[in-house]
This record gives sequence, C-alpha cells and structure tokens, in this order.
Amino acid sequence: MKLLVLAIALQAHQAFAKKLPQAFTICSRNDPQLDECFSGATQKALSLMTEPIPELSLPGIDPMKFDKIEIPPSKSDNFKFKQTLTNLELRNLKATKVKKTRVNLGESEFNVLIYTNTPWLKLEGNYEIDGKILVLTIKGEGTFTVTFDDVKVVVNMTGTIHRKKGKPHLQIDDVTFKMDPNNLIFKFDNLFNGNEDLGRSLNSLLNENWRPIYAEIGSTYEEFVAAYLKNVVTQIFNKVSYDDLFPIK
Ligand SMILES: *[C@@H]1O[C@H](CO)[C@@H](O)[C@H](O)[C@H]1NC(C)=O
Repeated sequence: MKLLVLAIALQAHQAFAKKLPQAFTICSRNDPQLDECFSGATQKALSLMTEPIPELSLPGIDPMKFDKIEIPPSKSDNFKFKQTLTNLELRNLKATKVKKTRVNLGESEFNVLIYTNTPWLKLEGNYEIDGKILVLTIKGEGTFTVTFDDVKVVVNMTGTIHRKKGKPHLQIDDVTFKMDPNNLIFKFDNLFNGNEDLGRSLNSLLNENWRPIYAEIGSTYEEFVAAYLKNVVTQIFNKVSYDDLFPIK
C-alpha cells in the first residue's frame, strides 16, 4: 500500500514536468506567424522522432510498428476478401515533407491540421488472405508489401486544454489521418501455396484495381496510423505542459 502511494506520488511529480529535448523547435502561441513556425517545428519533430526518444517514452515512427491489423471483407461484392496482417512495419515516414499547418489554440480547445507529402510509404509484414476479387478466388499466407506512391496526408488533431497540478496541459481527444496515394502496389508472396502463375495474376489484378480496393480498405490503415499518432502525441502532452510546448512570449 505504501509503495503504491509512493509510486503515484512519483508519477504525479513527473507529470508535465519535462521539457521537449533542446533539438525540437518551440513556437510561441502568440507568434503572428504561428502556422509557419509550426510547419518548421513539425518538420524538425518528424526527423527527430524517426528514432525512439526514451526520455519522453516515445517509440520511433520510422518504422512504425503494428502487431496486427484485421481488415474485414468489404461491403462491395467485387472485393470480398478478408485480410489478417501481422508483424507490420510502415516505413519511410522520415521522407515526409510538411507542406503547411493550421494551428488554432483557443481558451479551452485546440485544433491542429498538418498537410504533408511523402514520395512513398511501404507497409510490410505477414498476411493471411481469403475471399474473392471480382470473380476469382484469392487465398494464401506469407509475406507481403503494399507500397503507397506519392502520398498526400492530412492529419487533424483536436483536443482540449485542462489545468492540472496548477499547470495547463493539452489533451488530444481526436486524431484523424487521411492518406491520398497516387498509386498502390500490392505484392503478396506465396498466394495459393506458391503457385507462381496464379500469384502473379492475382497481384496484377489487385494492382489494376487499387483505387476501388483502397476506397474499401484504406480507412482501416488510416485508423491504425491515427491511433499510433494519438498515442505518441499523448505521451508528449502528458509530460510537457502547454506553457513549455507553446510558451507566451
Ligand atoms: C478536424 O476534426 C474535427 C473534429 O473531428 C472536425 O470538426 C473538423 O471539421 C476537422 N477539420 C478538417 C479540416 O477536416
């Protein structure tokens, strides 16, 4: 019991007590050019956050790792296949260029929009797939990659500003991550127990139909990345106070 009290006391002491590491760019909340400053700060943060940052308990974002993504069969009769993806890594977020940001810091609410371009992103891991694409059966398990070419992304973060332990801090309530790729290249190895002709045909069929397929399943990828980002930003907001993230100057 005593130990528990001590642990809680220690945690409370650490909450909102850290600063961002020096290499991060800090923007003043009353900077008339806050959007421009924050675009630069986001670009800098992306490059720093490629690697894990232990002092803020941040996992690295390149690669971004996921244990498992289940994609249920879509509603469209043309692409009725179920996918289970495991041991996933999303690569190349470090090549992201921040195009612009919109930062809106209110009295008790905030909204941040981040617009980016990335030349390519690659999701790789293990898959199990089962179902139908158009009139053909698709079935198999093995390793896969999905390459997203020339990806435009919009990140939308909304949240609230709270006062805790005397210090205001930011709380993320909602994150959306919308990806608009210019092309998708699916490569599922070992479809149909390694039947190469069938495997090649099915991969081509997937690639030729990437747009309707992405319209059906893209939101599942997006939700996982959004949840990952929400977790990363929450780690920062739990440790660094509002005044230290966006000081008044
Ligand atoms: C951002 O998300 C909020 C809350 O979900 C929503 O009200 C707002 O319209 C979104 N903004 C954009 C530009 O999509």
